Amino acid sequence: MRVSLQHVSHDYAGTEDSAAVHVLEDVSLEIGDGDFAVLMGASGSGKSTLLNLIGAVDRPTSGKVFLDDADTSQLRESGLTKLRRESIGFIFQFFNLIPTLDVKENVAFPLSLARAEGIAERVEAALDEVGLAHRARHFPNELSGGEMQRVAIARAVIHRPRLLLADEPTGNLDSKSGAMILELIRSIREKHRPTIVMATHSDRAAAYGDYIIQVADGRISR
Ligand SMILES: Nc1ncnc2c1ncn2[C@@H]1O[C@H](COP(=O)(O)OP(=O)(O)OP(=O)(O)O)[C@@H](O)[C@H]1O
Ligand SMILES: [Mg+2]
Repeated sequence: MRVSLQHVSHDYAGTEDSAAVHVLEDVSLEIGDGDFAVLMGASGSGKSTLLNLIGAVDRPTSGKVFLDDADTSQLRESGLTKLRRESIGFIFQFFNLIPTLDVKENVAFPLSLARAEGIAERVEAALDEVGLAHRARHFPNELSGGEMQRVAIARAVIHRPRLLLADEPTGNLDSKSGAMILELIRSIREKHRPTIVMATHSDRAAAYGDYIIQVADGRISR
């Protein structure tokens, strides 16, 4: 999936008690189909904001975000939901598994929402792919951080998204688990060729990407 941002600015609106925060300022950016792009920049520079705009979780204050030829600002909420469910996968720093669901149910979740067919087989295959078939009936609090992230990756890719967004996927892991997660992302890339956009503070993680997009002072450079 191609990602194109055209003159994107983003502010978080202020409230009675807090001032508005200006995060992105006239950002234009092209990420080609199948690229592995890495976002780097200081804490608070706007990496997560950019990922949320690319993943159609949030809308820019101004400017346009295109996913392939679709202008996401023209889509209604139902269209955005469909796009996210069918074409986008997310991986987060704190895994974001659902604590009351076991591993299998967590991985099945996106397919259940989409009322997909053959869920059990697909969950099994996805758990195999991340090497956790033997933990299918365990709950998130029974797993290590690295294992939780492997479950989260299985969940993120079970619907074969064409765009995979990762927000500091190794940020909460020791270096060995982090390396395993990065290798897993690499193998998913080789098998399924999604476009990947990953935010990270780690040079080691960044080395897995094709190029780095630096975010600073509301602008980007590549
Ligand atoms: N919902 C919000 N309301 C107000 N301000 C916000 C909101 N979300 C983020 N911000 C602010 O926007 C700026 C960019 O935040 P963002 O989370 O995108 O940074 P980041 O580059 O991902 O940082 P980190 O490396 O710490 O994850 C920060 O100043 C942050 O405080
Ligand atoms: Mg962030």
